[in-house]
Amino acid sequence: MENTRLKIAVQKSGRLSERSLDLLSKCGITLEKSKDQLLCRAQNFPLDVLLVRDDDIPAFIATDVCQLGIVGENVLFEAQECSENGSFSKLETLIKLGFGRCRLSLAVPNEADYNDLNFFNGKTIATSYKGLLAQYLQNQNIDAKIVTMRGAVEIAPKTHLADAICDLVSTGSTLTSNGLKEVETILNSQAVLIKNSDMPDDLNDICTRLVTRMSAVLKARSSRYIVLHAPINALDEIKTVLPGSEAPTIIPLKGCDKQVAVHAVSEEEVFWNTMEDLKAKGASSILVLPIEKMMD
Ligand code: PRP
Ligand code: ZN
Repeated sequence: MENTRLKIAVQKSGRLSERSLDLLSKCGITLEKSKDQLLCRAQNFPLDVLLVRDDDIPAFIATDVCQLGIVGENVLFEAQECSENGSFSKLETLIKLGFGRCRLSLAVPNEADYNDLNFFNGKTIATSYKGLLAQYLQNQNIDAKIVTMRGAVEIAPKTHLADAICDLVSTGSTLTSNGLKEVETILNSQAVLIKNSDMPDDLNDICTRLVTRMSAVLKARSSRYIVLHAPINALDEIKTVLPGSEAPTIIPLKGCDKQVAVHAVSEEEVFWNTMEDLKAKGASSILVLPIEKMMD
């Protein structure tokens, strides 16, 4: 079983590619990298990375070309919506990765007189997300025509191909520069790690190791290590505002019997006002440090 290797599909270029490769690298996985290659081999982990178009990732996993993928929920849900033989139902989300956030929205020309969804009745909407849009319109009881485009959806209203569009928005700059305004959100999306639920045991073991590492990286990313000095008589009060105060470590300070050092792990970001509160309650020498790795 020495040669058993897991294959993961990752977007070759675009919204998710850099953060996906960065996540693998933070998991300690070193790739023999050349970006024009389709397949990169990890040197120190039984993993091969397939660099492909994001829209192809669900199909690659459903057909066992690879077992895992990093993909936007928008792409995953659209594939599941459009799947005719249910082959995408074996795709399972393992972890939400917290990057690549965007939304699938309806947008209309700036000058359009938009009040509510009824605007779309009898209108034509251009999109690359036919499945999700059709489902949404049906749920909302709107009767509109859908025109499917592979790309450059935002130019459809200008060229009179459509009255409105349904497309991904992240910063909103594509809409703005095309004279469009966002009017309804259909779906909020982020990158997720997905797998084929029919995975043989030996590959599943590798997958579990990878998921453990990824979860550790994600948890560490939002967590902070806090170090401060506290007067012993203010310790209880300081604990009330200290994030992660369930079990802070209290360390005596040599030659100082009135103060102790307090160390705590906060599973969330520590904001300036928290630090100000700590200081107001008598804490000093407050340090907030990033955590590189974290495993329970
Ligand atoms: C989406 C969408 C817009 C752009 C919007 O395409 O089609 O072109 O992003 O982003 P903005 O609000 O930041 O301007 P994407 O880059 O995801 O390409 P793809 O759908 O072809 O993968
Ligand atoms: Zn795409």
